[in-house]
Amino acid sequence: MAAIEITGGTALEGETWISGAKNAVLPILVASILGDEPSRIGNVPHLRDVTTTMELLGQLGASLAVDEQMNIEIDPRGIHSCEAPYELVKTMRASILVLGPLVARHGRAVVSLPGGCAIGSRPVNLHLRGLEQLGAKVSVQNGNIVAEAPRLTGARIVMDMVTVTGTENLMMAATLAKGTTIIENAAQEPEVIDLANYLKAMGAQIEGAGTHVLTITGVERLGGAEHRVLPDRIETGTFLVAAAMTGGCIKLTNAAPHDLDAVLDKLSETGAELASGADWISLDMKGQRPRAVDITTSPYPAFPTDMQAQFTAMNTIAEGTGIITETVFENRFMHVQELQRLGADISLKGNSAVIRGVDVLHGAPIMATDLRASAGLVLAGLVARGKTLVDRVYHIDRGYELIEEKLGQLGARIRRVESVEAALAERTDS
Ligand code: UD1
Repeated sequence: MAAIEITGGTALEGETWISGAKNAVLPILVASILGDEPSRIGNVPHLRDVTTTMELLGQLGASLAVDEQMNIEIDPRGIHSCEAPYELVKTMRASILVLGPLVARHGRAVVSLPGGCAIGSRPVNLHLRGLEQLGAKVSVQNGNIVAEAPRLTGARIVMDMVTVTGTENLMMAATLAKGTTIIENAAQEPEVIDLANYLKAMGAQIEGAGTHVLTITGVERLGGAEHRVLPDRIETGTFLVAAAMTGGCIKLTNAAPHDLDAVLDKLSETGAELASGADWISLDMKGQRPRAVDITTSPYPAFPTDMQAQFTAMNTIAEGTGIITETVFENRFMHVQELQRLGADISLKGNSAVIRGVDVLHGAPIMATDLRASAGLVLAGLVARGKTLVDRVYHIDRGYELIEEKLGQLGARIRRVESVEAALAERTDS
């Protein structure tokens, strides 16, 4: 199993670019099946979750073509199946996003019920309840969610919790429903806005995207559209933290700094100097050690849970003590034990981690448990003395495009190896 080897100790310097947002491109690709004409999606990142989504849409019967620039053309006219099988759903929970569009457009959806995952039980009850409120008959049969409705009807839906994919699923479903749907306590993430913009380009009537109340007036049909996916704010934040941890100075292009306010505030608190324009951002740490920061994760516009592991990693070598509180997912501290293997001083108390910054971390073999945890581990490897081997990099490949190339471009000593064992054997040989 492939691993990433990092030789720590180099301050990141230079410039790299930011890819399209994983969490926007997945719902957007799926939303294309609501239309009755082809769509063309640009700025698509080359990620495993994107390939999985394409495979899923292909299995449903859509035709897909990708060019060298990763523009994807999707023709939904051949869709003949309404089933998202277990093999795909278990590798990518976001497969649940086909539920709303399939019922809305084809009257029926059969989607394998996602199980628990490394970061918690992650139920989909709010997706299902919302669809029922739109008039779908929903049941669970042999591990599959089965949802049916000749045509959905608009309704007022009050979400018990803020859920990103839940909001997206119901917003997509409501575009073709009869009448008006109001979704209250909707997710306000930039990726929800990007999806709404694409749906509007297809002919949907949506108001309030980016606020906590969405109003969707159902239309009879949607066409196709051209859309360019927004830049990935989590990848942007991850590289900025990497620069801050290593005392470096970097510039990121093709970025959207205005989507990152909560993260940038915390980076300023560490002592970093930030500058930005409409589509770029730079961070200069001037060779200093970052100051520890306290963080509480919450839905947008508050601090994102998807940046929690990276800030946990930064606090391990920061000056002072930082407390990180995770309120979105119940079990999102799997990276803590791995960071402790590098010498981090962290104690867990309920949903908080108290991190006392140490002077040095020491490289060791460690294991990635989920996508963002693995990013935190790679960042720790950048500052650890000696070599760190991060195993199970398939988690990273789900959400970070060309991570070794991009970090390498910034001066990091990082390479992909065939396996942890092979890399360790190579060291003994030499
Ligand atoms: C999305 C993101 C993920 C991010 C997360 C929170 C995508 C593809 N993934 O995941 O990167 O970490 O938002 O920002 O966009 N919940 C319920 N019932 C439901 C749905 C959710 O109880 O029906 C709970 C979850 O267990 C969790 C919280 O709501 O505690 C938020 O989860 P949610 O926003 O739904 O996360 P995802 O959409 O799966």
